[in-house]
Amino acid sequence: MHITIIGTGFVGVVSAAIYASLGNQVIGLDVDQEKINKLKKGQVPFFEPGLEDLLIEQQQAGKLSFTTSYQEAISQSELIIIAVGTPSAPDETADLRYVMSSAESLAPYLQKDAIIAIKSTVPPGTLEKLMELVKQQTKVKFYGASLPEFLREGSAVHDTLHPDRIVIGATDDFVFEKLDQLHQALNAPIVHCGVASAQMAKYTANTYLATRITFINEIANLCQKNGADIEEVINVIGLDQRIGQHYWYPGLGYGGSCFPKDVKELAAYSRTVGEEGNLMNKVNEINKQRIFDLLINFEKQIDGFANKKVAVLGLSFKPNTDDMREAPSTKIIPYLANKGADIKSFDPMANYEQFTKEKYQNHQQVNTIEEAIKEADAIFLVVEWPEIVQFPYAQYKENKPQTIFDCRNQLNPEIIKQANYQYVGIGRS
Ligand SMILES: NC(=O)c1ccc[n+]([C@@H]2O[C@H](COP(=O)([O-])OP(=O)(O)OC[C@H]3O[C@@H](n4cnc5c(N)ncnc54)[C@H](O)[C@@H]3O)[C@@H](O)[C@H]2O)c1
Repeated sequence: MHITIIGTGFVGVVSAAIYASLGNQVIGLDVDQEKINKLKKGQVPFFEPGLEDLLIEQQQAGKLSFTTSYQEAISQSELIIIAVGTPSAPDETADLRYVMSSAESLAPYLQKDAIIAIKSTVPPGTLEKLMELVKQQTKVKFYGASLPEFLREGSAVHDTLHPDRIVIGATDDFVFEKLDQLHQALNAPIVHCGVASAQMAKYTANTYLATRITFINEIANLCQKNGADIEEVINVIGLDQRIGQHYWYPGLGYGGSCFPKDVKELAAYSRTVGEEGNLMNKVNEINKQRIFDLLINFEKQIDGFANKKVAVLGLSFKPNTDDMREAPSTKIIPYLANKGADIKSFDPMANYEQFTKEKYQNHQQVNTIEEAIKEADAIFLVVEWPEIVQFPYAQYKENKPQTIFDCRNQLNPEIIKQANYQYVGIGRS
């Protein structure tokens, strides 16, 4: 099948490489010339394990190419997959301007019977608006579909090759047949449903996972008050088969490129339909406030951050990615910097200043954990990169009071305390 993927970000590049590896002829299209130049040279503009090898392999096989030209890409495609960003607008709804502008740009070059599938996360009603917009600019018959994406950054190649399900939201048998054919080789359940259901399913999945994180954070707050240990509590509840051990992450709150914006969109949508007090709105508000409440609490525990040497370990929003969208570090570092701390940060892949464009006199990103924690009064373990979790902190204990804020509950508190650190976890004493 001849496929164009519009938007060569995380989702677009992964999808393009995987669809090519399934034997399709794929073109990746982006308005960002610099990104396309890199991709043409076989360079992935972000860190995603396993992706660069796959990209180069498919380019060399002649199955995958990149362009900034809508005419070149669309005029030879039977399937156009839109994978542009849908960030939060200031009113917290999904900003659909990139989706709509890609629709406007592609419309003049559409082939007869082409399918336009939206893979970007968009609210119900978006496909219909997009189809209307395209119809105004073309006379050819074309189809629409919703093809939501469920991959996780950090394991995106694996997730795309082994998805839990493929969801196709459409109204025409022709579309279901073509998209079934495309995904058959993945050997995953293929779910056919209405367009609005497909889009709601994507928001529901992300909002549920964000709610699970928020729920366990609220329980962790209570544990902190009464001497219970959240990890022991999770172990007990997890044995209940209705609940399960997986996906319990007490911490600083959810971040990343998707959960915050998708919960915001569902909360904003709820407000427009008279459900302003609902769970999504509460989850959104609780999560936005959480990290600041914890920072205030941590600050009290070490008698203020002013003039303290502080190490921040982990800058990306989770391990195995350099993505810093809504990463806890983007709130912790400005907070500490404004309090007058002397900050050294470390991450194996992410670059703070490059991503945030923020420079603080009292913040320096260093290349090793040893450098970051040297003479530190406080160590923040923010992201569970293996090298950060497995670091032998006990061997580096200095002869002065030092506190480890284990923001992901990754360390063994007993070992840390035996090494004479003060240990502060989440929902555990
Ligand atoms: N990142 C994830 O883990 C993930 C997972 C599932 C779903 N999604 C959804 O997929 C969508 C894309 O996410 P992402 O993280 O890949 O975004 P991204 O920001 O990494 O990439 C978006 C790309 O679209 C390009 N673009 C913008 N306007 C364009 C236009 N008019 N024409 C061509 N290209 C254009 C940008 O230059 C950019 O390269 C979002 O809706 C997101 O919610 C993301």
